[in-house]
Amino acid sequence: MQPTKHHLLILLTLVTTHLHLVASWGSLGHRTTVALSLLHIPQTHPAHTLLSSLLHNQDPTTAGLFPDKIRYIPSFAYTAPWHYIDALDNPPHQCSINFTRDCLPSEGCVVTAIANHTERVADQTLPFWQRGQSMRFMLHFFGDVHQPLHTENLSRGGNDIDVMFDRQRHNLHSVWDTLIPKKIVEIAGDGGVLGAAQRWDLGNETEAAYAWAEFLYSKYGHDDRVAEMVDHVCVHDAVECALRWASEANAYVCSYVMKGGLEDLESKDLGEEYFEGAVPIIEEMIVKGGRRLARWLMMVAQDLHDAGISGVDEQLLCRNSEGSPGCGAS
Ligand SMILES: *[C@@H]1O[C@H](CO)[C@@H](O)[C@H](O)[C@H]1NC(C)=O
Ligand SMILES: *[C@@H]1O[C@H](CO)[C@@H](O)[C@H](O)[C@H]1NC(C)=O
Ligand SMILES: *[C@@H]1O[C@H](CO)[C@@H](O)[C@H](O)[C@H]1NC(C)=O
Ligand SMILES: *[C@@H]1O[C@H](CO)[C@@H](O)[C@H](O)[C@H]1NC(C)=O
Repeated sequence: MQPTKHHLLILLTLVTTHLHLVASWGSLGHRTTVALSLLHIPQTHPAHTLLSSLLHNQDPTTAGLFPDKIRYIPSFAYTAPWHYIDALDNPPHQCSINFTRDCLPSEGCVVTAIANHTERVADQTLPFWQRGQSMRFMLHFFGDVHQPLHTENLSRGGNDIDVMFDRQRHNLHSVWDTLIPKKIVEIAGDGGVLGAAQRWDLGNETEAAYAWAEFLYSKYGHDDRVAEMVDHVCVHDAVECALRWASEANAYVCSYVMKGGLEDLESKDLGEEYFEGAVPIIEEMIVKGGRRLARWLMMVAQDLHDAGISGVDEQLLCRNSEGSPGCGAS
């Protein structure tokens, strides 16, 4: 059954109302990816207008958490497989993604989801709210496709691997999803992350994400090597690009995440040396995700612009900024 617009609005309201209750530190990586992308889009670029219009002015880092809020709602359970691609490889000995083998057409995966919503976000024949939903999915999937354990079937992407992190038991998946990013921001005392750490203590994840993004921007924003790494962006060949990104992340499953095998992972506290080694990988994932998202957003907005379609809800924009040029008097 297709949810109606009315249902969706009720749902969105519930989700937004309860956001402060359910938002976990786990969303820090997602928020930071989106926050970093915003820093890479020039202020006057139409991508900003497209975003504020499709998201009804919601903060984009919050909008990008929407897919995690709905995936456990039964009528949206079909979206759960869109968050990952379960590579049936053999880590730590052999890592690889094979699209035919790993992405079931009946369910889809993060690669086909990126292609699907890239198409839908710009599809003028779709109702506006559906394009907004696709935008929220995209803001989210740029994070997921860069997380190594979202590209691995073994032990459900590490969810079934019990490990120690700072003297507490966790599963390996959540170590990568939430604990490492959280610790990076918490312990960072110098070099510019301090602002983020202070805000983190105040418990405002949105501010922590923006501050961490600013730190990453100043550290890598003008690094030409990073520019090369993010060069290809999928708008017209989305499956091919998304598959390449997933394969990059998947390679880290063998080269670092599960490098020593299960026994090794279970024999030590991952909050120590393992954490130190993971920091540059997490930073690289977020930087790549954020910069690729920025390029994607700009290309989508530019394509709409070139086609002579503003791609935005003019009425909504005018309601939000009465008296601006082109809006007329009301
Ligand atoms: C990918 O998987 C399919 C289906 O299992 C198989 O036929 C194909 O040979 C695989 N391709 C590669 C490059 O391993
Ligand atoms: C594309 O997204 C729409 C809206 O979420 C969904 O109904 C449809 O099943 C998706 N198609 C594919 C091939 O994933
Ligand atoms: C994929 O992972 C699941 C859950 O750990 C496991 O039951 C299944 O056997 C795995 N599939 C393959 C082909 O290894
Ligand atoms: C976090 O900070 C943002 C931006 O300053 C603010 O809009 C938001 O209300 C804050 N959230 C909480 C839960 O304090």
